[in-house]
Amino acid sequence: MEKLEFVDRRNTNSSKWDGLNRQFGREGLHAMWVADMDFKVPQCVRKALADYVDLGAMGYMAVPESYYEAVINWEKMVHGYEIKRQWMRFSPGVVAAFHWAVRIFTEPGDAVIVNTPVYYPFFHAVTSNGRKLVKSDLVNENGHYSIDFEKFRSDIRANDVKLFILCSPHNPVGRVWTSHELRRLLNICRENGVMVVADEIHHDLIAPGNEFIPALQCGEPGEFDNMVIALSAPSKTFNLAAGQNSIVTIPDEKIRRKWDDFSSAISVNQGNPFGYIAAEAAYRGGRDWYDAIIHQIYHINFNYLRERLAKDLPGAAVSDLQGTYLAWIDMRGVMEPSSVKEAVLEKGKLAVDFGDWFGGEKYNGFVRMNLAAPLEYVKKGADALIASAE
Ligand SMILES: Cc1ncc(COP(=O)(O)O)c(C=O)c1O
Repeated sequence: MEKLEFVDRRNTNSSKWDGLNRQFGREGLHAMWVADMDFKVPQCVRKALADYVDLGAMGYMAVPESYYEAVINWEKMVHGYEIKRQWMRFSPGVVAAFHWAVRIFTEPGDAVIVNTPVYYPFFHAVTSNGRKLVKSDLVNENGHYSIDFEKFRSDIRANDVKLFILCSPHNPVGRVWTSHELRRLLNICRENGVMVVADEIHHDLIAPGNEFIPALQCGEPGEFDNMVIALSAPSKTFNLAAGQNSIVTIPDEKIRRKWDDFSSAISVNQGNPFGYIAAEAAYRGGRDWYDAIIHQIYHINFNYLRERLAKDLPGAAVSDLQGTYLAWIDMRGVMEPSSVKEAVLEKGKLAVDFGDWFGGEKYNGFVRMNLAAPLEYVKKGADALIASAE
């Protein structure tokens, strides 16, 4: 395993560390919010980027076929997933991609459904484009989340939903959906003529013992090709968010044509060389680093957090982290839900994502903590949660 190298990101124009005042109106918080890592990217990525900088030739780039091969080989090696070269398209980030998808696959006023609590930019993609947001809540049983399929179906029918933005694995509740769950969701969508955008950005970040199933692979081969597009990227896996390089997988030719017409109309067909070079290097040479990050997140950090809170803050319910590096913690057993935000910020001096961001006030009392950091940071985060309850 490659050794993970800590990087102190304070004073590096980091959103997470240097954007505290903007988000929380305070400085000096311990930052465990924005979903990126406090580790350096793999050595092979730094080398590839340094070589490119050294060469100094920074004119227009023809994206090499070797980039696509690297992505395809990674998916095959890690997930047994066979993506075809002609299915792959570019977007400058997954957030941009699902915003575009809302524009491409729905009309103004159409309804778009999401499973709350969920990654909040999903809401913006819908509402800022003049579409109607339908929030269909997951079921929470003692911190374990599941889907109420009947409710999902009736929410779709009652609102004449046209598009579903699926989060798989699910940020913030950490579920890795089973193929059975995915098939049921997609079958309900099919019955009701709902197209699906699967945000699979966290798909490499899976706790041992769980298996990620791509939405496009959850049925018989090709079964859902004519209603699903999938979004992924190396950004979460290898801490490459700054590269703004993500992959849109569209097996269906008609759907692909719509995507291509849109990207041609806005004239965004490819990204910057830094993103491609970093992604290709990571997918080719980052396996040892990836094994190390998986070990760090699940074996070291999450185990520590769960055990420490069970011992010193037993009223907090920590959801099982099946995937993503974002722990979802229910603090309602510790204090009044409406007090959690102030207590965590003021007493704990801790910056986390707060529950209400993911779907409104009913999620007050929950926090999402980023565990893609050295154990020392996780210990500090646990100390801070405990201190916030004193
Ligand atoms: C579910 C999900 N989608 C998308 C993103 C961000 O995507 P990008 O940086 O590629 O726009 C995140 C980041 O936390 C995320 O959790």
